[in-house]
Amino acid sequence: MIKQNTIEQIMATVKVEEVIEDFVSLKRRGVNMIGNCPFHDEKTPSFTVSPAKNIYKCFGCGKAGDSVRFMMDHDAMSYPESLRYLANKYNIEIEETVNTAEELAVKEVTTSYYIINEFAQSYFNNSLFNTNEGKSVGLSYFKDRGYNESIIKKFGLGFTTSDKNDFTKTAISKQYNIEFLKKLGLTSQYDNDFFRSRVMFTIHNLSGKVIAFAGRTLSQDKKTPKYINSPETDIYNKRKVLYGLYFAKQSIRKEDECIMVEGYTDVITLHQYGVDNAVASSGTSLTVEQINLVKRYTPNIKIIYDGDAAGVKAALRGLDLVLEQDMNVRLVMLPDGEDPDSYLKKVGIEEFRKYLKEKEQDFLFFKTNLLLAEAGDDPIRKSKVLKDIVQSIAKIPDNIKKQLYIQKCSTMMGISEEILIGETNKVIKANQKQQHFRNKRDQPNHVDDSTFLNQKTQPYGTQIGPAKQVVTGDDYQEKDVLRILISHGNLPLKDDSEMLVCAFIIDSVKDEIQHFDNELVKTMFTMAIEQFNANGKIDINAFTSSNDEQVRLLAIDFLADPYIYASWEEKGLQFQTQKDPENNQEKDAIQSIKRFLFRKQGKRIDQLEIKIKELSVTPGSELDLIRYIKAYRIVQTQRTKMAEELGSVFLK
Ligand code: CTP
Ligand code: MN
Repeated sequence: MIKQNTIEQIMATVKVEEVIEDFVSLKRRGVNMIGNCPFHDEKTPSFTVSPAKNIYKCFGCGKAGDSVRFMMDHDAMSYPESLRYLANKYNIEIEETVNTAEELAVKEVTTSYYIINEFAQSYFNNSLFNTNEGKSVGLSYFKDRGYNESIIKKFGLGFTTSDKNDFTKTAISKQYNIEFLKKLGLTSQYDNDFFRSRVMFTIHNLSGKVIAFAGRTLSQDKKTPKYINSPETDIYNKRKVLYGLYFAKQSIRKEDECIMVEGYTDVITLHQYGVDNAVASSGTSLTVEQINLVKRYTPNIKIIYDGDAAGVKAALRGLDLVLEQDMNVRLVMLPDGEDPDSYLKKVGIEEFRKYLKEKEQDFLFFKTNLLLAEAGDDPIRKSKVLKDIVQSIAKIPDNIKKQLYIQKCSTMMGISEEILIGETNKVIKANQKQQHFRNKRDQPNHVDDSTFLNQKTQPYGTQIGPAKQVVTGDDYQEKDVLRILISHGNLPLKDDSEMLVCAFIIDSVKDEIQHFDNELVKTMFTMAIEQFNANGKIDINAFTSSNDEQVRLLAIDFLADPYIYASWEEKGLQFQTQKDPENNQEKDAIQSIKRFLFRKQGKRIDQLEIKIKELSVTPGSELDLIRYIKAYRIVQTQRTKMAEELGSVFLK
């Protein structure tokens, strides 16, 4: 694990504008910088970066965070990956906590795997460019296929000669561990080279590290397998890999679409022609893990199928999986006998793009058409088609989308919408029932008071998000106090005072925390109090880099208050009577806290009134009654006084 003080050093060093400018061009606008949001498509920039606060926020799509978050969202990095990236950018040495022996061993193995694969890749690359066999067989094969040198280098293509064990011998002479070479599938159990007489494709993970290889034979012999692949290892799980994703991810995000093809060679050709949002599932059918990889960058997938209908039908069944993930799937069938590689080379890039545009079809409509055409007029087969399509529709989590599909499919199949809706609901209920029992089985104490009926609007498959926050009367006041705590907490209360705003706020509010209505605010206040008790101040970073998205977004909302963001000078506005709210923390804090406490006292009075009514009809509780009435009078007086003060604050 990365040590806390390294994290702190990173946070103190990184400049959000420098991190973002590697990916987005920013212009100065007053105290802030703005640019086109990399997370959604926009023409007028609403992506705002605040160098002073070290955060960004898009006022268009709402994405917000700090440098760490930016890299996590932009490049789909994990939290530690993002920290490592930033540390590297700023030459900060990473200190790690001491790992257990077991962790160290695993880490050592995976590090060795990467190093060995890196060596293999450069060895294969060298064989391609610098051996006679490589040049005359491998390189000329790639050139014949139309690959230029830069794409060959970019994708790390290579060659293995017919030599029995030169690679393994070289590796051993360089002290690489023979057991690891075998585990990685580079060396056979008899210490010979595993890949021989093949052109080599390198498989990268998301951060560009070499995790596996695929070798394609150039022999026409039918008995020789066309491709052989590295085995699965700690660093290579083929269900979780999409070939080409490392090179495609930026473009997928930018185009807001991922193009999915079948073969390695298709990906490379497409990239060479500038279609660089293409990836391949490498001959297996799509897995949930692969879809989730794509989902990090876009909800839109376009699958290009080779022009032979045989495999397509089987593949379609697997695609319901994509629907469940709430992705938009479009399909394109290429003309008979073509794959993306051959067709693109045949017609050229413009024709190719035009073809994709004209021939793309929504997955479900494509499936419906295909199945209907097969069924012809046979009513039994037609009703099977109906069942099949309804199964797919039921998997769509989004209700509006579901409704649209039902409308369209009803026309296509010539079946009334009511029937389709009825059938879809049946499937949803059956699925729910299954899920219900599964829940019961998995969580014996699970209390489930939901019935199928009132779940109608929440079909199986719908992701139920975090509980909606209940907005009550005090929500606004609570949030406002928190806003000041986070945006101004570490400033002195008055220009000349030693006391910080956070000390003042926490002191005034701490007794009320348990009575907060808004759970999120309560959580954040509790965090703040812990920080204050430990360090005497608030740790803003802990909020803006929180892994809890709700915490992070609310904190950034406070910091990136549009009211503050609209830069004063630029709007040409002169505020003579009002200080820039940035410099008005004292009045801001006191006023907000007073309003907050005023509300809370109001509540207390309500509670006391109820209690008093109760006691006044309970025989034998006279003494209690008197005590409560006294308390009631005290709180009332305080509140009246506060109202006066508040009034005067308001009037100022
Ligand atoms: N594949 C595989 N093993 C095989 C055949 C295919 O792993 N024996 C995978 C490879 O990822 C391959 C993809 O399935 O890229 C598609 O197969 P195919 O269309 O036959 O290969 P291409 O890569 O298109 O090769 P080429 O164009 O050279 O025929
Ligand atoms: Mn091909």
